[in-house]
Amino acid sequence: MRVQTDFDLAKLLAERGHERYPLAAERLNPQLTRMLHAIGFDKTYLRGEGAYIYDDTGADYLDMLAGFGVFALGRNHPVVRQAVHDALDADLADLTQFDAPPLAGLLAENLLARVPHLDRVYFGNSGTEAVEAALKFARYATKRPRIIYCDHAFHGLTTGSLSVNGAKEFRAGFGPLLPDTAIPFGDLDALERELRRGDVAGLLVEPIQGKGVAVAPPGFLSGAQARLREHQALLIVDEVQTGMGRTGDFFAHEHDGVEPDLVATAKALSGGYVPVGATMAPDWIFQKVYSSMDRVLVHDSTFGSNALAMAAGLATLHVMDHQDVVANAREVGALLQARLTELVDRYELLAEVRGRGLMIGIEFGRPKSLRLRGSWMALQAARKGLFAQTVVHALFHKHRILTQVSGDHLEVIKLIPPLTIGAAEVDRFVGAFVDVMDEAHQGSGLIWDFGKSLIKQSRAK
Ligand SMILES: Cc1ncc(COP(=O)(O)O)c(C=O)c1O
Repeated sequence: MRVQTDFDLAKLLAERGHERYPLAAERLNPQLTRMLHAIGFDKTYLRGEGAYIYDDTGADYLDMLAGFGVFALGRNHPVVRQAVHDALDADLADLTQFDAPPLAGLLAENLLARVPHLDRVYFGNSGTEAVEAALKFARYATKRPRIIYCDHAFHGLTTGSLSVNGAKEFRAGFGPLLPDTAIPFGDLDALERELRRGDVAGLLVEPIQGKGVAVAPPGFLSGAQARLREHQALLIVDEVQTGMGRTGDFFAHEHDGVEPDLVATAKALSGGYVPVGATMAPDWIFQKVYSSMDRVLVHDSTFGSNALAMAAGLATLHVMDHQDVVANAREVGALLQARLTELVDRYELLAEVRGRGLMIGIEFGRPKSLRLRGSWMALQAARKGLFAQTVVHALFHKHRILTQVSGDHLEVIKLIPPLTIGAAEVDRFVGAFVDVMDEAHQGSGLIWDFGKSLIKQSRAK
C-alpha cells in the first residue's frame, strides 16, 4: 500500500541543497569546510557516473580517489543500483534478528568461494568494524592479548583499530589504547622477537599499506605466516582497501601465496552503495568465539547482514565476475604504472612510482638542480608533504582530476580510481600529470604560488 506523505527528497535537495557548505560548517566537523575553502575544493557536485563526477556547471571531474576506494565499479553502477531498488521493493522482513537472512548466506558463500581455505563470515558495517571483529576473534581464539601491527599501518579509527594504527597523529590524545606493539613493515626478525614472548595473538597487516602505498617486501607475508604458525599465532590480513580486485588479484594476499587466518574486507564490497564490512575466518575460530548458545550474540551488530548491503554485495560480485573487473584492474593498472614510471627519468622532482593493479603511489623527492632545490626546501621546512599537496591542487584546478596525498607528512600521492577505468582515463591522467610536472620544473607558476600560500598557512598555525 502506498502511503501519502508530504516528504519529498528531490524537493528538499532542490530547495536547500545550496546550503550544503553553511550547514556543514555549523553542524558537522568544523574543520572540513575550512579545509575545503582553503584549498579551493569547495565545489558543488550534483551527480556521478562511472569514473566521473559533475559539478553545478556541468564540468566533469575524473575521480582517481573513488570515495577512498569504495567505487570500484564506478559511481552509480546500474546493476548494483537495480539490486538495491529490488531489495527495497521486495518489502523484505529484514533484520528480524531471529531468522536466517538468505542474502547474507548467499553473499558469504560467494565471498568465501574466493578464499577457499576460510569457512565463515561475520558481516559488520565498515572497514574498522571488520578489523575490530578480527582483533577480538584473534584474541579470543588464541587466549592471548597482544596484536602486532606495522609502522605506518592504517586499520580504521575506532578504539581497537586505533590501537593498531601506526601513525602518531591519529593516536595522540585518545589513549590509553590496547597494549599492542608495532614493528617495522617487513621486519621478520622484529616479529620473531615479539612472538618469543608468548603473548601474541596475531600479526595484523595490509598487503599494500594505504599510507604511502608501501608494498609488503617480497617474502614478508609468507615469512610472517611461517613464524606465526610456529608460535601458534594468527596472520590477520586487512584487505579493506586492497581487497575486491583493487591490486589486480581478488585479494592482494593471493599475490604473496599466503593463507591468512583472518581476512577483513569492506569498502568496495557493496559497490559504494551501502556501508558494509566482512571478516572471514576458518570454522575453528568461529566455533571458539561462538562456542555455545549463550554466546550467540557475543560479537554482533544490529545492522550487520542487512538486506540492502547484502543485495548490493551480491550485485557487485556479479558485475566483477561478468565484466572481468579484476583483470581490468590488473591490465589498466599495469599500463598506468608503466606510463608514469617512464616519467621518473624525465622529472627530477619525481622519485618513484610503485604499487600494484589500480593502487598506485607517486612519490616526489628532493631535486638535484639548485634552481628547484630552494623552493623544494622551503616547502619541506614548512611541513613535509606540501609539495605533494601542490600537485593534488594543480591536478584538480587545472585538469579537474581528484586525487589525494597519501597520508600526513608524505610526499606521495595515491591513485585508487574505479577499477573499470580504461585507456581514455589513463591518457587524461598522464597528460595532466605531465603538464603539472612540466610547470613544476619551470620553478614558477600556479604550483609554486600555491606552495607559497601553503607555507604561509603552515606558519600561521
Ligand atoms: C586498510 C584499511 N583498513 C581499515 C580502514 C577503515 O575503514 P572504514 O573507514 O570503513 O572504517 C581503512 C579505511 O581507509 C583502510 O584503508
